[in-house]
Amino acid sequence: MKALVLSGGSGTRLRPITHTSPKQLVPVANKPVLYYVLEDIARAGITDVGIVVGETAYEIQQAVGDGGKFGLDVTYLPQEAPLGLAHAVLIARDYLGDDDFVMYLGDNFVLGGISGLVEEFRARRPDAHLLLTRVADPRGFGVAEIGPDGRITGLEEKPQQPRSDMALVGIYLFTPVVHEAVRAVTPSWRGELEITHAIQWLIDHPYDVRFSTISGYWKDTGNPQDMLEVNRSVLEGLEPRVEGEVDDASEIVGRVRIDAGARVRGSRIVGPAVIGSGTVITGSYVGPYTSIAENCRIEASEIEFSIVLRDSRLSWIRRVQRSLIGRNVRVTPAPRVPAGTCLILGDDSKVEIPL
Ligand code: G1P
Repeated sequence: MKALVLSGGSGTRLRPITHTSPKQLVPVANKPVLYYVLEDIARAGITDVGIVVGETAYEIQQAVGDGGKFGLDVTYLPQEAPLGLAHAVLIARDYLGDDDFVMYLGDNFVLGGISGLVEEFRARRPDAHLLLTRVADPRGFGVAEIGPDGRITGLEEKPQQPRSDMALVGIYLFTPVVHEAVRAVTPSWRGELEITHAIQWLIDHPYDVRFSTISGYWKDTGNPQDMLEVNRSVLEGLEPRVEGEVDDASEIVGRVRIDAGARVRGSRIVGPAVIGSGTVITGSYVGPYTSIAENCRIEASEIEFSIVLRDSRLSWIRRVQRSLIGRNVRVTPAPRVPAGTCLILGDDSKVEIPL
C-alpha cells in the first residue's frame, strides 16, 4: 500500500500566515501540520509516499527532504496547477501503479490517526473507504448523504444547501479502480476535477464504497479560531519536558514543554504550553494553550491561548489572547503621547483592539 499526500494549493483561507508559508507547514504545537500527516502514515506501516506539490514545491521539499527522518521514502509529484484532487490522482497514476493507497490531504488533521482505519481497509478491502465527520457549517466541504440502510447514497461538493452535516474528511482509501473513476469526471463549477465526483461515479457503478465516522478533526476552514482549537487539543496531550533553562525566579505549572536552548527568566508559565528553542521569556506570563515557536522574545508581556510563529517579539504588552501571530512580527507599546495605535499589517490581517 502507498500513500498520496496532497501539498499543493495556495492557502487563501489562512492568509496572511500563508502569504509567506504553505498552509501545510503552518505549525500546530510548534510542528507543521504536514509532519503530523507523515508521522501518521509511517505509524500505519506505509513507507512509500508520493507528495503532490504545486507552486510551494520548494518549501515543502526543504521541510520534508527524502522523508528519511520520518522513516518514509518520499517521491515528489509536481502538479502544474491546482486542478483538483481527482487531477492529483490522475498525475500520480504511474507512481501509484496497481497498489491500493491512502490519499491524505496535507492540510488535514485528525486526532487519533489512521492506523486502525488502514488495518480495517487491508482486511476488508472495499473499493473505497471514506472518513466522515459532523461539522457546524458543511458548505465548505464535500457532503455525504446516508440512506436508511446506512450506506452513502450521494455526495455533493461544497453545496449551498447541504443535505446533511456529514462532511468528507480529507483522507480517502482507494483500490486501483479509482483510476477509472478519475478519468470519467469533468471539471466542476470551480474548474477542478473533484474527487467527490469520482467517488460518486464509484457509487453509481456500483462499486463498494464504505465509510467510518470520526470526531477530533480539523482543516483550514479560514477561521484562525479553528487553528487555535486544534493547537489546544494537541497541547492537551503534550508530554511535559523542560530541556531549556529556567531560573529560580520562574514558575512552571502543569504540562509545559520547554525545548533545549530556550530560556525562561522571572516568568510564570501555566500549561499546557510549548516554548521553542532559542526563545527567551523574561518577566512575563504565558498562559494555557499557547505555542511559542523558535527564536522569539517575550518580555514583560502576558499571552495565553495563542500561537506565535518563529522570530517574533512581544514587549510590554498586556494581555494577548486568542491570537495567531506570524513570523518575525513586532508587538510593542506606542512610545509617544498622545498614545495612538500604530499598525503596519500585511494584506489580509485581522486585528481586534479593545475599546
Ligand atoms: C477538499 C474536498 C472536500 C473535502 C475537503 C476536506 O476541499 O474537495 O470534499 O471535504 O477537501 O479537507 P478543498 O480543500 O479543495 O476545499
